Amino acid sequence: MTTPVLLPPTAELHLHIEGTLEPDLVFRLAARNGIDLPYASPAELLERYTFADLQSFLDLYYANMAVLQTAEDFADMTRAYLARAAAAGVRHAEIMVDPQAHLARGIPLATCIDGIASVLRTSEADYGVSTSLIAAFLRDRPQEEALQVLDDLLSMDAPIIGIGLDSAEVGNPPSGFVALFARARAAGLRCVAHACEEGPPSYAWEALDLLHVDRIDHGIRCMEDDALVARLVRDQVPMTICPLSNVRLRAVDTLAEHPLPQMLDAGLNVTISSDDPAYFGGYVDDNLRALVASLGLTADDLARLATNSVRSSFLTDDRRQVLLAEVERWRDGTVEE
Ligand code: ADE
Ligand code: ZN
Repeated sequence: MTTPVLLPPTAELHLHIEGTLEPDLVFRLAARNGIDLPYASPAELLERYTFADLQSFLDLYYANMAVLQTAEDFADMTRAYLARAAAAGVRHAEIMVDPQAHLARGIPLATCIDGIASVLRTSEADYGVSTSLIAAFLRDRPQEEALQVLDDLLSMDAPIIGIGLDSAEVGNPPSGFVALFARARAAGLRCVAHACEEGPPSYAWEALDLLHVDRIDHGIRCMEDDALVARLVRDQVPMTICPLSNVRLRAVDTLAEHPLPQMLDAGLNVTISSDDPAYFGGYVDDNLRALVASLGLTADDLARLATNSVRSSFLTDDRRQVLLAEVERWRDGTVEE
């Protein structure tokens, strides 16, 4: 029997809400909406969750979104995530949604945004998890489309705090989205982008220097470029690392070979998130436990990662201080000096 590992309260900064659609919920929503699935059961769907790379995951991720038809579907998915995240120790979540993936299926922007936002509005009272929403743009679709969707989000006064950049990375560098990020910044939005998940270090340089991002999602391939590491350390750029995702999408071979320890040693501002937990074998708690088991992370490391996550969030100062104090109390009760 394995000893249960005590985990700190944390902020989850890299989470795609559509990536929380568990197989059971896929089936429940499909039945509710009269959609035929090409799998006989949730167990059969789960069997497909063996991925060769990012693209092979994205194909299934986008296909399963077909079950999200109504605002209530988006709300149910969001409730399920918050209940599970609260159990994982998440006290604040900055949640990404992919509006273009739904628009492309004929689902209006308001259906997806209102469904999710209706649950986020009371998430702190209902689940003890404060939340905010980030609209992520698909880098394998044209920037012109993204600009139109951003304008539509701004016109409808969508409750978003920022924008992100996701989907198929290689061949779709950040330099293609300079106008989008400039417009978002001018509108007062925060900016994050996936970079160096599969793509080369030049993509992180572009995200920093051309998109002026506040955080880098993933960033594991940054370790190939010493000058880039120095820059990220100097500016303490937050990086949202998703270890189980990296293994499942074969960005790293095994968790034991994950560069997280080197990233910590280098002084990078790393945080831990779950990315698409329904697809990658677990939520934040599963990621942290796996790191402890495979890489020997200590309670001190866990406290540092949790502190980084709260500091790197887009929270207001009040709530940030409350959560930092919670992490500190956890540290005082757990770490032997
Ligand atoms: N969309 C959902 N999950 C993603 C990931 N890990 N990388 C890029 N785009 C994504
Ligand atoms: Zn991601």
